[in-house]
Amino acid sequence: MPNSQAHLHVFSDSQQVASQAALFWAQQARQAAAQQDAFYVALSGGATPRLLYQQLAQDDVAGQIPWQQVHLYFGDERVVPPDHPDSNYRMVRENLLDHVPLPASQIHPMVLQGNNNETSARRAASAYAQELQQLPTSADGWPQFDLLMLGMGADGHTASLFPGTTILQEQQQSVTSVYVDKLEAWRVSLTLPVIQRAKTLLLLICGDDKAERLKQVFETPAPTDDMPITHIIGQANVHLYLDQAAARLLDMTK
Ligand code: 6PG
Repeated sequence: MPNSQAHLHVFSDSQQVASQAALFWAQQARQAAAQQDAFYVALSGGATPRLLYQQLAQDDVAGQIPWQQVHLYFGDERVVPPDHPDSNYRMVRENLLDHVPLPASQIHPMVLQGNNNETSARRAASAYAQELQQLPTSADGWPQFDLLMLGMGADGHTASLFPGTTILQEQQQSVTSVYVDKLEAWRVSLTLPVIQRAKTLLLLICGDDKAERLKQVFETPAPTDDMPITHIIGQANVHLYLDQAAARLLDMTK
């Protein structure tokens, strides 16, 4: 994998991944709250993190999280209203937010309206870039999350950075809209400069259908736009949580 300095954690199944990753999340939250009185986190969407969000809502884990200091953002989103079945915000609300004492003013949905159209996508992206100006910044001036969660699609995309899309070249904006041809869909996503500068990245990859691509990603010596996750996965700030099914083709001796 490109510059492999990532921390690798492999567990027997996706439930174990979720419980261990939830403890890691809680510990990151406590650490940031103790150091700077605030925890800035960006969540990922898709199916894999659902179990983790459910874990965070369980009393034994939720009770260890300083919710009054948590500021919750999203890494990417579909261009749909927040109650739409495809909305990442809706998934997070149902599995986590409805069950924990997080102040509403500290929840930052990425997209509030739209019907898969360009105008709404562009507006949402520029409004969210403004909103990110509330975050602390990295040494070179980019908004900086304490913890940023990501997944990986079977094509090697992460957040809404899909293979060969123009968003991969973005070096000015922290958030942009992007049209994904193969999904015929508009998405809004954090861009690479912001993702790469998060203090800690938590990548959750589970399932048999991810194994082939993950092997390819691990065997790729340099980042490539054909598999956008290669721009991130080897970084020293990455904690990679895998289940056995996704990790089954990896050579762990390297
Ligand atoms: C999203 C994502 C996306 C996701 C991968 C993996 O909003 O869909 O953030 O990048 O992490 O597509 O999704 P699964 O967990 O559903 O396989």
